[in-house]
Amino acid sequence: MAIAGKVRRHMKEASWIRRMFEAGIALKQQYGPEKVFDLSLGNPILEPPARFQEEMERLARSPKLGMHRYMPNAGYPETREAVAAYIKRETGLPFTLNEVVMTCGAGGGLNVVLKAILDPGDEVVVFAPYFPEYPFYIDNHGGTTVTVSTDRAFLPDLAALERCLSPRTRAVIINSPNNPSGVVYPSGHLKELGGLLERKMAQSGRTIYLVSDEPYARLIYDGLKYPYPYPHYRHTIAATSYSKDLSLAGERIGYIAVNPECPGKKELLDALVFCNRVLGFVNAPALMQHLVARLADVTVDVGWYQERRDRLYGALTEEGYQVIRPQGAFYLFPRSPLEDDVAFVQELQRNLVLAVPGQGFGTPGYLRLCYSVEDWVLDGAIDGLRKVARGMAHGSG
Ligand SMILES: Cc1ncc(COP(=O)(O)O)c(C=O)c1O
Repeated sequence: MAIAGKVRRHMKEASWIRRMFEAGIALKQQYGPEKVFDLSLGNPILEPPARFQEEMERLARSPKLGMHRYMPNAGYPETREAVAAYIKRETGLPFTLNEVVMTCGAGGGLNVVLKAILDPGDEVVVFAPYFPEYPFYIDNHGGTTVTVSTDRAFLPDLAALERCLSPRTRAVIINSPNNPSGVVYPSGHLKELGGLLERKMAQSGRTIYLVSDEPYARLIYDGLKYPYPYPHYRHTIAATSYSKDLSLAGERIGYIAVNPECPGKKELLDALVFCNRVLGFVNAPALMQHLVARLADVTVDVGWYQERRDRLYGALTEEGYQVIRPQGAFYLFPRSPLEDDVAFVQELQRNLVLAVPGQGFGTPGYLRLCYSVEDWVLDGAIDGLRKVARGMAHGSG
């Protein structure tokens, strides 16, 4: 069967994900699903908030005329207005519906943004560890991925970034709270990053966009207020979704928001709307737009995630794992006790715990653990992680 050579190569590059997935399925078949403790998937497992169900019922009982028809490609004006009002409240910046495009999740939004801004060969910077889909998304639109390291706290290494910016750089993608590290970028760091990009742009005269991928912005702990990048850089474009904070990952609903102070924003927004259309998304799902417009102030119980963060972080540090305490999202990214992270993940598998090796995120020597799981899964995984660490401490691992 003929498929594109590039797709075949990409599928091969991403094949470790499938291998891990298949190993998990095989273990579940062999031992029974209740004996396998799977921290490898990033699925928001909480049910959506009760208000979501109420709004669905209300809409089903009194449907709006024409509510399933085509609409403007940017989305319903009333939904975009509700989103803009929310971001305005959060940031104090003068967002209006004109800076908002509704999308098929953050993943759809990122593809729309990259299509709108990239010419062939343009470079896009990502910081390792990064969400593994970024290089594929960038390639979708003819761009080239440039990987830059992070520092010991998993914050973008700005000196390394400065060295990697080139006359072909068109965008820098950031992701806070981060998948896989859970780290939230503080305002001070965003300010320095914005300052660096402003200086580079002033020198070269070429626009560099800061693309902020923020689907976990509202899964944030310890009473922290999400530090938005907009105030620190005018050319900021955010892509986000309701996948995590309303647990609607399967419904594919999110949005792009462009900094109201972004120079040339009218042309940029026209391009985003056009790309939403010609990528075949056409518009974000209508039903979900009707619902999220009325749920701006609602989220799942963030405390539920924070409690799991505390439990897993506490257990890991107690066993001597080196790990940064995350302040958002639902992942931990500990150092692999073995230099070879794949070997360590395989050792965990032998103890019926599933994790993802750090090399899948461009950062070998680590592993990603997702704590969006039921209690029994977390408890079993903690036991397994403990057993493996103790086994290694006694030289038997
Ligand atoms: C960092 C990051 N960006 C984007 C996405 C895509 O999210 P969505 O479901 O909104 O497309 C995910 C999903 O896990 C993610 O972790």
